[in-house]
Amino acid sequence: MHFDFTDIREMPKIQRLNLINSITGIKPGNLIGTKSNDGQSNLAVISSIVHLGSNPALLGFILRPQIDVRRHTYENILSTGVYTINHIHEDFIAQAHYTSAKFPADVSEFKACGLTEEYHNACYAPFVKESPVQIGMKYLESMKIEANNTVMVVGQIEHIHIDEHALSKENYVNLETLKSVGIGGLNSYYRLSKIGEFPYARPHETPDFTNEKK
Ligand SMILES: Cc1cc2nc3c(=O)[nH]c(=O)nc-3n(C[C@H](O)[C@H](O)[C@H](O)COP(=O)(O)O)c2cc1C
Repeated sequence: MHFDFTDIREMPKIQRLNLINSITGIKPGNLIGTKSNDGQSNLAVISSIVHLGSNPALLGFILRPQIDVRRHTYENILSTGVYTINHIHEDFIAQAHYTSAKFPADVSEFKACGLTEEYHNACYAPFVKESPVQIGMKYLESMKIEANNTVMVVGQIEHIHIDEHALSKENYVNLETLKSVGIGGLNSYYRLSKIGEFPYARPHETPDFTNEKK
């Protein structure tokens, strides 16, 4: 099957959204926890988190257009300067998914979706108690992406809570051990299984994939 630019542009809205949202493959499954200045907690499933750099340790995520909908997550991040990123575990994918419903500002998705607020390290934003990886973030900056009115939110990792059994000797995180999930499109959750591991790739150590006789 082949879709060109015009096919994509003229596709019915929902079909285009589903196709384009799932075409890049698996995205990380996380919940962003925030709290407003007057103490109202908020939780939202977000699949667009990306690694920006390790030193300093920075993560970004994309917030969808801000035009007609008020985004509580963004408001809370801007007003308090902190947020948490929490892996979705396969035991609570339904609860995680329904945090995306547009609950009124005075309803906490923690309560509505049966997840538990947890506080550590004097961080004002709530962590998700049930999450196998909890990351405390300090907000740094946002960049507007003019092409589609989205915003890239950039933050610095301040704290990481993770079960040490899921860390290799070199500190790689094993997502299979943690039972963290991946997200496809806007509605599908995948179990992750590790199928390979390789050393840092150097030209002179590359196996001969060419089948050329030497
Ligand atoms: C699987 C999934 C992934 C999502 N990923 C994102 C995302 O990366 N960025 C975003 O802005 N919204 C994303 N959303 C939508 C938010 O979860 C949703 O708008 C949420 O209500 C925002 O909460 P808030 O209004 O309390 O900030 C996603 C929704 C689902 C179901």
